Amino acid sequence: MEILSFMIIFACIFVPSLKISLAIDSINLLESMRDGETLVSKGGNFELGFFSPGSSQKRYLGIWYKNIPIQTVVWVANGANPINDSSGILTLNNTGNLVLRQKSTLVWYTNNSHKQAQNPVVALLDSGNLVIKNEKETDPEAYLWQSFDYPSDKLLPGMKLGWDLRTDLDRRYTAWKSPDDPSPGDVYRALVLHNYPEVYMMKGTQKLFRYGPWNGLYFSGLPDLSNNTLFNLHYVSNKDEIYYTYTLLNDSVITITITNQTGHIHRYVWDENGKTWRPFRSYPKDVCDPYNRCGPNGNCVTTQTQACQCLKGFSPKSPQAWFSSSDWTGGCVRNKGLSCNGTDKDKFVKFKSLKVPDTTNTLVDESIGLEECRVKCLNNCSCMAFTNSDINGEGSGCVMWFHDLFDMRQFESVGQDLYIRMAASESDSQEPVSRHKNNTPKIVASSIAAICGVLFLSTYFICRIRRNRSPRNSAANLLPEDNSKNDLDDLEVQLFDLLTIATATNDFSTENKIGEGGFGPVYKGILMDGREIAVKTLSKSTWQGVAEFINEVNLIAKLQHRNLVKFLGCCIQRQERMLIYEYMPNGSLDSLIFDDKRSKLLEWPQRFNIICGIARGLMYIHQDSRLRIIHRDLKPSNILLDENLSPKISDFGVARTFGGDESEGMTRRVVGTYGYMAPEYAVDGSFSVKSDVFSFGILALEIVSGTRNKGLYQTDKSHNLVGHVRA
Ligand SMILES: *[C@@H]1O[C@H](CO)[C@@H](O)[C@H](O)[C@H]1NC(C)=O
Ligand SMILES: *[C@@H]1O[C@H](CO)[C@@H](O)[C@H](O)[C@H]1NC(C)=O
Ligand SMILES: *[C@@H]1O[C@H](CO)[C@@H](O)[C@H](O)[C@H]1NC(C)=O
Ligand SMILES: *[C@@H]1O[C@H](CO)[C@@H](O)[C@H](O)[C@H]1NC(C)=O
Ligand SMILES: *[C@@H]1O[C@H](CO)[C@@H](O)[C@H](O)[C@H]1NC(C)=O
Ligand SMILES: *[C@@H]1O[C@H](CO)[C@@H](O)[C@H](O)[C@H]1NC(C)=O
Ligand SMILES: *[C@@H]1O[C@H](CO)[C@@H](O)[C@H](O)[C@H]1NC(C)=O
Ligand SMILES: *[C@@H]1O[C@H](CO)[C@@H](O)[C@H](O)[C@H]1NC(C)=O
Repeated sequence: MEILSFMIIFACIFVPSLKISLAIDSINLLESMRDGETLVSKGGNFELGFFSPGSSQKRYLGIWYKNIPIQTVVWVANGANPINDSSGILTLNNTGNLVLRQKSTLVWYTNNSHKQAQNPVVALLDSGNLVIKNEKETDPEAYLWQSFDYPSDKLLPGMKLGWDLRTDLDRRYTAWKSPDDPSPGDVYRALVLHNYPEVYMMKGTQKLFRYGPWNGLYFSGLPDLSNNTLFNLHYVSNKDEIYYTYTLLNDSVITITITNQTGHIHRYVWDENGKTWRPFRSYPKDVCDPYNRCGPNGNCVTTQTQACQCLKGFSPKSPQAWFSSSDWTGGCVRNKGLSCNGTDKDKFVKFKSLKVPDTTNTLVDESIGLEECRVKCLNNCSCMAFTNSDINGEGSGCVMWFHDLFDMRQFESVGQDLYIRMAASESDSQEPVSRHKNNTPKIVASSIAAICGVLFLSTYFICRIRRNRSPRNSAANLLPEDNSKNDLDDLEVQLFDLLTIATATNDFSTENKIGEGGFGPVYKGILMDGREIAVKTLSKSTWQGVAEFINEVNLIAKLQHRNLVKFLGCCIQRQERMLIYEYMPNGSLDSLIFDDKRSKLLEWPQRFNIICGIARGLMYIHQDSRLRIIHRDLKPSNILLDENLSPKISDFGVARTFGGDESEGMTRRVVGTYGYMAPEYAVDGSFSVKSDVFSFGILALEIVSGTRNKGLYQTDKSHNLVGHVRA
C-alpha cells in the first residue's frame, strides 16, 4: 500500500514535467509481481513481465512491445539465469532494489548501493526504460537504477552505447546466444575508450567490425549511418560520459537495432500495415567492412576486382600470397623505409576519402590544428599518420596514429583525409596540402596578376610607371594584358595560404632562413606533404619590390625548364607577398665555387656540367620559351644547385620580356650587379640577350677559376678577373 501511494503521489507531481508514465493502472505491483502479471507503460508502448523465448520452456523477466503482435523482447533481466517454472516473483525492496526470486532462491537483483533510496518507486517508461527512483526525484540523471544502463541486444531510441565515466559503467550490447536463449553470448558491440574512442563489434577478444571513430559528423567507417530518413545520431563526449545515441525524426515510427549472433547489426522498422518488421539497414554491408580485411597498411576498395590494394608508396608484403591466392593478411610494407632522421627526412602524403585506421594506438590533441599536428607527428618516429580529429567546418583537433595502420578502406565521395608518413624520396603526385580542403585554389596567372594589381598597385603607382617608362618596358610587363594573353590561358599558379607557409617555415624562424634575397629574406620550409620549399619573401611596402614581385610571378609562372628553378606558387595575404619555389639542397653556386672547402671537391666534369646547364637554361629563356626573356642579373648567387649539382637559374625579379621578334631594350633604371653587367648596359642602359651572354661569360670564368670577378685584386692594372684573363 505504501508503494502504491508513493507512486500515485509521484505520478501526480512529476509526470507532467517529465513526460513519463507509470503503469499503475494495469496490475498491482505493490510488494511483488508474479509470473503471469505484467506492468504496462502509461502510453501502452511497452510491457514488463515473464516470458519464454521461441521454443524455450524457461521463464525470463523481460520487456517487450505491448502493441506488436510478434513478440519482440527488448530487454531481459535474468538472461544468464533462467527460471525453470512459473514461480518467479519480482519485488522492490526498501533499499530501492529489484529482486527476482524463484521461491527462496535469488535469481537476479539490481545493484544501486551507491545511491541513497528514499521511498523508492519503480516505473516502466514509454521509452521502454524500466527505472527505479526516489519518489521525489525528477532528474533522470538521479535514477537509482535503469534498465537502459544494462542493455540486452537491442538499441532503442534514447538508449546510450558507451560509457558513464563517473561510475565506470560500460553500456554494451550483447547478442543472445540464440533466438531461444537470451543468455549473453560472446558477441557484443561496445564503445572502446581509446584516446580516440570507437565502436567495435567483438566476438570475445576478436574484432569483427569497426564503426571508425566519430569525426564530428559521422562514424568514419559508416558515413551513411548519419545520413538517413529515420533518425539523428548524437555523439556525446565530455568528462562525465562518452556515448552515442539516436533520436527519431518521427516519434510515431517504431524501430530497433539488433545485434545477432554472428556480429551483424540489423535495423528494423515496424510496418503497421503489413504487421511485420521491415529490414531497414544492416552492417557490415560489403566486403570491406569485416575487420582488417587487407592486413596492416592495406586499403580495401570495393570497386576493384581485388578488394585489397596497397596505398601508394606501399607494396604487398608477400606478393605471391597477395596476388595469386588473394591472401591479404600479410598486408603492405613501405617501398622505401622511413629515415626518421631529423625533421626534414620524411614527409606526409595526403590520402583522400578513407575510413581512418583503427584507433587503438592513437593520441588526440583537440587544442591544435592540422599544421601543428603535422609537426608533432613528424617529430616522433613512430607517428605514422595524422589528421583532424574533428572534420566539422574547416576541421580542427589533431589525431595521430602510431605504428602500423589497420583496417582502412576507400570511399568514393565521402570519407576523410589522412596524412601518411613517407620517406622523403618516395615520389608522389599528390597535390600539395592547402588549408582549403575542397578545391585547391588554382587561378590563372592573369587573375593572380589582377589580384596583385588590385591589392598592391595603387592607381598612383600605375600612373607613375606609365608616365615614366616607355610602354614596352613598363606596365605591360608587370601586368600581362595584351601581348601575352594567349600564353596565359592554360597557365595555373597555386596560391598558398599564409598559415601553410608560416607552419612550413616554423613561423619564419631564423633557423629556417637560408639567405637574403634582393627584397627580403629567403626561408626554407617543409609543406604538409613533405615537399621542401624555398620561400622568397618581399619586404613590406616596397613599391619597387611589388613591381618586381609581380614581374617575377608573371615570368616564372610561364617558364618550365630543368635548368630554371621550379616555381610552385605564391602567397599573397594581408601585407605579405611571397614566392614559393622548390628547395635546392645544394644552395647557390657562389656558396660552392667560392668556398675553400666545398670548391676543392668540385671536379672538372661537374664544373663543366654546371656551365652547360646554365647555358641550356639561358638558351631556353632567350630563344626556346614562349617569351623572350632577358634575365639581367645573372650571377653565381642566382644560380641554385639541386641534389645532383644540376644548376637552376633563379631570381627573375628584374628580368624583361620581349615579343618574339624584338631583342633589345633600353632602360633608364639600370639594375643588376656590377661585375656581371655588360659595359653597354652599365653605361647606356641598353640591354639585350647579349648582356646576359656577357654575364654568362663572367660566370663561366668564375666557375673555371673559382675566383670572384671583383674580388681578384692584383698589384698590376688589371683590377678584376676579366682584366686578369685578358692580361
Ligand atoms: C527448478 O530449479 C530448482 C532450483 O534451481 C530445482 O530445485 C528444481 O528441481 C528445478 N525443477 C525442475 C522441474 O527442473
Ligand atoms: C534489497 O536488495 C539488495 C539486493 O539484493 C540487497 O543487497 C539488500 O540487502 C536488500 N535490502 C533489504 C532491506 O532487503
Ligand atoms: C551487481 O554488481 C556486481 C559488482 O559490481 C556485478 O558483478 C553484478 O553483475 C551486478 N548485478 C547486476 C544484476 O547488475
Ligand atoms: C547522403 O545521402 C544523399 C542521398 O542519398 C547522398 O547524395 C549524399 O552523398 C549522402 N551523404 C553522405 C555523407 O553519405
Ligand atoms: C510519422 O509516421 C507516421 C506513421 O508512419 C505517419 O503517419 C506520419 O505521417 C509521419 N509524420 C511525419 C511528420 O512524417
Ligand atoms: C546474422 O545476420 C546475417 C546477415 O543478415 C546473417 O547472414 C546471419 O545468418 C545472421 N546470423 C544468425 C546466427 O542468425
Ligand atoms: C641518420 O642521419 C645520419 C647522418 O645524416 C646517418 O649517418 C644515419 O645513418 C641516419 N640514420 C638513419 C636510420 O637513416
Ligand atoms: C612517440 O610517441 C609515442 C606514443 O605516444 C611515445 O610512447 C614515444 O615516447 C614518443 N617518442 C618520442 C621520441 O617522443
